[in-house]
Amino acid sequence: MVKNKIISYTAVFSVFLLILTVAAFSTDYIETVDDSAFEKKTRPPAAFFHDAHNETAGIDDCSVCHHLYEDGQKTDDMSVGMECSECHMSAPEDSAADLIRAYHLQCGGCHMEQKAGPIMCGECHRKN
Ligand code: HEC
Ligand code: HEC
Ligand code: HEC
Ligand code: HEC
Repeated sequence: MVKNKIISYTAVFSVFLLILTVAAFSTDYIETVDDSAFEKKTRPPAAFFHDAHNETAGIDDCSVCHHLYEDGQKTDDMSVGMECSECHMSAPEDSAADLIRAYHLQCGGCHMEQKAGPIMCGECHRKN
């Protein structure tokens, strides 16, 4: 009896842990890019349905966007969990323009290269 109880407690706890883990790694709640470093936004936030976008675009490698450099070279490691601004607007001489450039180059750059995905302002910066 006692043993059964322990087993079922363990089972319930494992399921709980599993849900927590899945929730922690799920990013389907992200629907726009909303970097906290922009003090005043002049445009509607850029549409970006994180998980759906990457699935449709066929991007499996997180480090394509969440990249990490060492001695100027891109590594295979990733910077998941960091905002782009933590690096691209971190130096005293960096301005919002540097961060905007980083986003536009990464997002728009790939769209242009692959001839897929939006490149017009209003296609990313959507009103609703
Ligand atoms: C096409 C580019 C792109 C790819 C590929 C990508 N991400 Fe992201 N991800 C972003 C952007 C942009 C954000 C928002 C960044 C920010 O908070 O400034 C983000 C945010 C996140 C966040 C939330 C961070 C937070 O602080 O809330 C997590 C977690 C994350 N991504 C994990 C992943 C994982 C895991 C993968 C690979 C399976 C992945 N991403 C692939 C662009 C990408
Ligand atoms: C851990 C720090 C770090 C994070 C986080 C980071 N970057 Fe970078 N990024 C770098 C470094 C270092 C370089 C190479 C030196 C340079 O060009 O500034 C670079 C290069 C770039 C480049 C030029 C090279 C290329 O890939 O075309 C773009 C564009 C870029 N980053 C955009 C982004 C975007 C967008 C994000 C967020 C999704 C991001 N970066 C997150 C550090 C980072
Ligand atoms: C490595 C390539 C790549 C990168 C990086 C990338 N995209 Fe895309 N994106 C694509 C492709 C490919 C499509 C077209 C997918 C399809 O067939 O619908 C797309 C489509 C889109 C769409 C239209 C689909 C929709 O959800 O309405 C938006 C918006 C978009 N991307 C925003 C972004 C933003 C914002 C970023 C930067 C944070 C970004 N993308 C970075 C490849 C990329
Ligand atoms: C491929 C998608 C994409 C396209 C196309 C695009 N942007 Fe952006 N833009 C972004 C992303 C992602 C950010 C970062 C948004 C954030 O964190 O709020 C950004 C940020 C900005 C910002 C700084 C934030 C603000 O609201 O003030 C400005 C200004 C801006 N974009 C203007 C433009 C203009 C002008 C065009 C057309 C010439 C354009 N963008 C085209 C994705 C895009």
